[in-house]
Amino acid sequence: MSAQGAGGIGLIWAQARGGVIGAGGTMPWHLPEDLKHFSRTTTGSPVVMGRRTWDSFPARYRPLPGRTNIVITRDDALELPGAVRARSLPEALELAASEAAPGAPTWVIGGGTIYADAIEVAERLVVTEIDLDVDGDTTAPEIPEDFALRSAEPAEGWHVSASGLRYRILTYTR
Ligand SMILES: NC(=O)c1ccc[n+]([C@@H]2O[C@H](COP(=O)([O-])OP(=O)(O)OC[C@H]3O[C@@H](n4cnc5c(N)ncnc54)[C@H](OP(=O)(O)O)[C@@H]3O)[C@@H](O)[C@H]2O)c1
Repeated sequence: MSAQGAGGIGLIWAQARGGVIGAGGTMPWHLPEDLKHFSRTTTGSPVVMGRRTWDSFPARYRPLPGRTNIVITRDDALELPGAVRARSLPEALELAASEAAPGAPTWVIGGGTIYADAIEVAERLVVTEIDLDVDGDTTAPEIPEDFALRSAEPAEGWHVSASGLRYRILTYTR
């Protein structure tokens, strides 16, 4: 099977204003509705992530259930209980394509370095925009010009989280 997989490759991330996606090895906000959206979207598909994103999940929450977790690392000695190791993004995408159910996409779930490398081969971007100013050390990739916005949820304005944060979910395809 090709590295693209039958269902294609999607990137999914959440970003604050200015494209901030991480700070100090975690996400600098609390947005349970986005975690549910992330889980709904990715469950049943392989997920590909960098080693630091794997590290960002508390041990009791990993591997992410219902998904083959593929972790990219150069460290052959690193223990990754419950996950599949890959030594490069192309190797991770090949593994994901071979694991994916027919028609299921592969989701690339971060972090910054992996998004930057994977966006060139992605067909779909699912981006939660959070209406929040926050300092960070990791940012979302630049969206190439051949991606077009296909849907916004809500169509206008913002959802308001139980936490008070405003957010919306944008989907781009190329
Ligand atoms: N807001 C969101 O949606 C979202 C999503 C995911 C993550 N995040 C945040 O993003 C931050 C982590 O992102 P990050 O950019 O620092 O790290 P990352 O992309 O998660 O992981 C980087 C690691 O992946 C491995 N790696 C990267 N490129 C590689 C290559 N070409 N070949 C082999 N291995 C490679 C290396 O692991 P080794 O060092 O082990 O070799 C590298 O240190 C955290 O703050 C996290 O909370 C946010």
